Amino acid sequence: DYETKLQELKKKIKSFPDFPKPGILFWDIFSALADGPTNKILQSLLVQTIKAKFPDVQAVVGLESRGFLFSFSIAAELGIACLPVRKKGKLPGEVISYKYDLEYGSDVLEIQKDSVQPGLKCVIIDDLIATGGSITAATHLLNRCGADVIGCLLVIELTALGGRQCIPKGIPVHSLITYE
Ligand code: PRP
Ligand code: MG
Repeated sequence: DYETKLQELKKKIKSFPDFPKPGILFWDIFSALADGPTNKILQSLLVQTIKAKFPDVQAVVGLESRGFLFSFSIAAELGIACLPVRKKGKLPGEVISYKYDLEYGSDVLEIQKDSVQPGLKCVIIDDLIATGGSITAATHLLNRCGADVIGCLLVIELTALGGRQCIPKGIPVHSLITYE
């Protein structure tokens, strides 16, 4: 069942202190993916969650790069669109951009204009939410396209950073696993 699978998944996610910088505890999703049976468990947990929480979803939007690991597999399983949000300059054709501030400097996210019809019901997927900066920027980008962001789905949420508070009110956020 759901709880047993979740415990199995949690056992396989390793953490690395002081990576990539001193003082940061890095939760490594790839350590879970390195185990075949755990891949299957993670995929089924994500599919089960999206079906239960967001039954109306029409497109799964993955954030470069670790979000792509999950956006494709979930969308393929559901038989719906998988759309990439990428860093500036990576996507061909006409794109819509959103610039956002980082601790030092700024970043730009892009999506292909033709891939998003107004009103398209999207769920944004990523491996992890920390400050919430990435996923919040993606919600603004999709709003700018006229999409309807019906939710966000994360494998891991680091609650101490309060990232979900940045996400615009009214967008439900679900994470499989939370860490302090
Ligand atoms: C990491 C992670 C999330 C984001 C979370 O991605 O995969 O996308 O940071 O942090 P935030 O909530 O503070 O924005 P990263 O930018 O390291 O790139 P990657 O996915 O390409 O490894
Ligand atoms: Mg990322």
